[in-house]
Amino acid sequence: MTNNTSLKQTFFDRWAPSYDWLFPSVVYQAIHQRLLEYVNLPTSANVLDLGCGTGKLLNRLAVNFPNLQGTGLDLSSEMISQANSRNRYPQRLIFVSGNAEEMPLENDVFDAVFNTISFLHYPDPPQVLNEVNRVLRPGGYFYLVDSYFKWQDEFQYLSISPGGLNLYSPIAREKLGKEAGLNLQANYYLLGAVLLTIFTKQL
Ligand SMILES: C[S@@+](CC[C@H](N)C(=O)[O-])C[C@H]1O[C@@H](n2cnc3c(N)ncnc32)[C@H](O)[C@@H]1O
Repeated sequence: MTNNTSLKQTFFDRWAPSYDWLFPSVVYQAIHQRLLEYVNLPTSANVLDLGCGTGKLLNRLAVNFPNLQGTGLDLSSEMISQANSRNRYPQRLIFVSGNAEEMPLENDVFDAVFNTISFLHYPDPPQVLNEVNRVLRPGGYFYLVDSYFKWQDEFQYLSISPGGLNLYSPIAREKLGKEAGLNLQANYYLLGAVLLTIFTKQL
């Protein structure tokens, strides 16, 4: 694990116990609600929430899709501990610790991968996208949700601080996805500057 990843892990471990009670979580849950309007899943979908935090999105998906099975993966073991203690569907949802760059998951198993407000933290986005492509079944969907400000250079990503936060334009997302074998389907603004990009894994 790089030093930056270790710093992120410590940061999120400390945030985890109060995560659901602080203002950003209210905004994140509004984003999850808007995201659902664009989600297309088979009846008995098997999905992954990458960078799942306390598991709010998977619990919401489980309500809306009664046959859905879900895995939440997060770098922070404290986030996973919170997610396990608040899991309302233990028969259908599991939460595991792991790094998005080397997921402890099998190939071609998920109908969809979700990723909300987490991609901006990744030091090696091409490696994460390769991993997303590996665990998705052919034709599966990747729902990437993160901020993008229109004043950014549309061809580049915006690095807010070295090793800190990176925000990707629609063009940068499409290019990164294509290099990993993920085809762009559409972009939608969910809330303010929060942009959903939908990809599918090539057949
Ligand atoms: C702002 S929180 C968002 C959590 C959740 N997706 C939500 O919408 O509420 C970002 C999450 O990404 C996780 N994360 C950051 N880097 C990661 C990595 N390399 N692999 C897996 N998870 C990571 C953090 O631990 C944290 O739980």
